[in-house]
Amino acid sequence: MEELVALCKRRGFIFQSNEIYGGMQGLYDYGPLGVELKNNLKHSWWTSMVYDRDDVEGLDASILTAPNVLKHSGHEDTFTDPMVDCKSCQSRWRADQLKEATCPSCKSNDLTEPRPFNLMFKTSVGPIDDGKSFAYLRPETAQNIFTNFKNVVDSTSRRLPFGIAQIGKAFRNEITPRNFIFRVREFEQMELEFFCAAGTDEEWHKLWIESRLKWWEDQGVSKDVLELYHVPADELAHYSKATVDIMYKFPHGLEELEGIANRTDFDLGSHSKNQSELGINATVKENNASNAKLAIQDIETNEWSVPYVIEPSAGVDRGVLAVLNEAYRVETLDGGKERTVLSLKPHLSPIKAAVIPLKRNHEGLVDMASKIKSELQNLRLGRILIENSGNIGKSYRRHDEVGTPLCITVDFESLEDGTVTVRDRDTMEQKRVSVDEIKTQLHEMLLNGTNV
Ligand code: GAP
Repeated sequence: MEELVALCKRRGFIFQSNEIYGGMQGLYDYGPLGVELKNNLKHSWWTSMVYDRDDVEGLDASILTAPNVLKHSGHEDTFTDPMVDCKSCQSRWRADQLKEATCPSCKSNDLTEPRPFNLMFKTSVGPIDDGKSFAYLRPETAQNIFTNFKNVVDSTSRRLPFGIAQIGKAFRNEITPRNFIFRVREFEQMELEFFCAAGTDEEWHKLWIESRLKWWEDQGVSKDVLELYHVPADELAHYSKATVDIMYKFPHGLEELEGIANRTDFDLGSHSKNQSELGINATVKENNASNAKLAIQDIETNEWSVPYVIEPSAGVDRGVLAVLNEAYRVETLDGGKERTVLSLKPHLSPIKAAVIPLKRNHEGLVDMASKIKSELQNLRLGRILIENSGNIGKSYRRHDEVGTPLCITVDFESLEDGTVTVRDRDTMEQKRVSVDEIKTQLHEMLLNGTNV
């Protein structure tokens, strides 16, 4: 972990937030390369969830959430972690994470009884801070998928089964944020709520688990390093009938990367009041929630029903940590020198190719390199960089370390015959090729890499 954290800071992937003022626990900023990697991972998820399928629509809803939504979803009452205080040093801990009943900070055994601590952040809304006009920062992106269910169905005429996908920020006031970007207070989720008929839910649950394992494999996190954890009944979230977590061996241990839950008709049912009056019947008891009829009509039987929901929910930040950890290696070369490489899948690499003139500021070489850069950039395949350092060895080392799959060197021969040298990040093999050949190579590399 320490090596990864150091690399992330040195090369501009991830920085601690508010660092110049001493930093803030559980918050991180993505730098010039981090934002590219994160966007690429999100784009790959969106492509596989929305574009490659014919049964999913997208959504981008607000973060500030009305208290009523999180009341009826059950979060106000149950979205808690058990907290204990150390009476000696006043530090606070998550009771379920303490190995013994001992304070990890001062080793005292004088701890309070565990009590529930709600993880939701609140903020006041509008000009008067009277404690009544407040909103929550959403603790999961899922809820405004449920509250927009009718809008999406009415505007797209979707029938079951179909899904709504969303990528966005979520906030949790974690008692003990830790392990770099693994457990933070502000993070991003990639969530799909897949609506299906009751009775087909268990089959869809299995299909989604398989599909998500395949997707992680396509991102460079193979099945061999993942484990499925069938969450026992007494650990299930309040909305879940069954949850399977995809567990990954992070540098600090085996932990959850993604959860795939069968949320039944709990959420849509909880947000619809007077269900019998609305002509629907969810397994949730009637309540005083919204008047919306969060149900769908079967066009053959004309019957209304509240769909069941399968929810694959992945953390973007945990995904970034997992792909970085899988890609990172230090190799010893012939002669004993070491090189650090990030063997990221090309579609995730922050920079797709670096174009390097052999001599710094040489007019002819820099000119040609700039033209090649523009030509490749115009393919719209991601970021292409010109590296006018004049030090080829140093440029190769830098680009190995940030995961750039191709380095293209423009030399004096290039000025004569238009060919350039292409070096492959993983094999370090170098080939003399034309610019057209590089275009084909870039296209193929990215298509094969994405393959989702
Ligand atoms: N809508 C379901 C839901 O939110 P969850 O298991 O609480 O379920 C889903 O969260 C995913 O969000 C987790 O698998 C994890 O990847 C990510 N996640 C949750 N809490 C996080 C945190 N404090 N920091 C970073 N990622 C987190």
